[in-house]
Amino acid sequence: MGKTVRAHTNIALIKYWGKKDALLRLPLMSSLSMTLDRFYTETKVTDSAENRFYLDGIEQKGKNAQRVFSYLSLLQQKFGVSGNLQVESSNHVPTSAGLASSSSAFAALAAAFCDHYEIRVDQRELSRLARLGSGSACRSVYGGFVVWKKGNDHESSFAYPLDHQMDLQLLAIELNQQPKKLPSTNGMKQAQTSPLFNTWLERNQTELEQMIRAIEQDDFTSLGQLAELNANEMHAINLSAQPGFTYFEPATIKAIKLVEQLRKNGIECYYTIDAGPNVKVMTRLKNVKEIINQFVSVFDNVKIVNASFGPGLTYLD
Ligand code: PMV
Repeated sequence: MGKTVRAHTNIALIKYWGKKDALLRLPLMSSLSMTLDRFYTETKVTDSAENRFYLDGIEQKGKNAQRVFSYLSLLQQKFGVSGNLQVESSNHVPTSAGLASSSSAFAALAAAFCDHYEIRVDQRELSRLARLGSGSACRSVYGGFVVWKKGNDHESSFAYPLDHQMDLQLLAIELNQQPKKLPSTNGMKQAQTSPLFNTWLERNQTELEQMIRAIEQDDFTSLGQLAELNANEMHAINLSAQPGFTYFEPATIKAIKLVEQLRKNGIECYYTIDAGPNVKVMTRLKNVKEIINQFVSVFDNVKIVNASFGPGLTYLD
């Protein structure tokens, strides 16, 4: 029987936002993320009379389940194995609220699938397999800072870890726990109609290299400025798509303004935002308390989770 596998979510500091190949989920750009300790998915795959998918103990039907089963059947074809499967997952992430639950979900599923069938693959191959379920999942195979090299085919598009960590905290400010309205696949497709899209692609390699340098030099200021710029570029192409759209809610703007205000007051912090209204604030450990106090005083009922570096895939039993 296969083991339960835990995979942690990751948040991109240089974002993946655009696909070259929808089926293989090959990206148009390389990306770089931080794996988080506080958010994760645990998944176990077992044999079953029928295909079944349970999330947090509740059987899933419809689109969610369909996505999981077509992914499993893709992997079964790839490895020449067959049979109905039961997937039991528990999600320690607000599902689909821009906190990247699909990254941990498909990394855990890819690993649990291989474990169930005793398919021995290395981490690089696991990252390719996870990518077939959800692009960002390829980065959740590893802990710490992770680069996803865009590559140009299935073989050359995989993630690898960077060998550096630093004093970096990520405060996930949960302004809204509702599932996002526009799934990332649709958002990425729509974004490609922006007249700014080519500029977004042209800048990718330079921004990636600058980010890696900032990490290697423990340069928090450059890391934060660059992550913020990169997120704003992504959201600018959404706003300038035809038709334009945005994941921002009024509370998102309010949070951005608070981060800017905190910086003016000498508390160094930066934001990044994904395919949802929530804001993540990056800071050094010494400023965490003050930033949390400020957010709590400005927002009613805000939930804040203070995360730092999480590990790669963990096999639990
Ligand atoms: O792989 P997906 O479909 O979860 O898309 C991820 C998109 C972003 O979270 C916005 C950026 C990223 O690189 O994780």
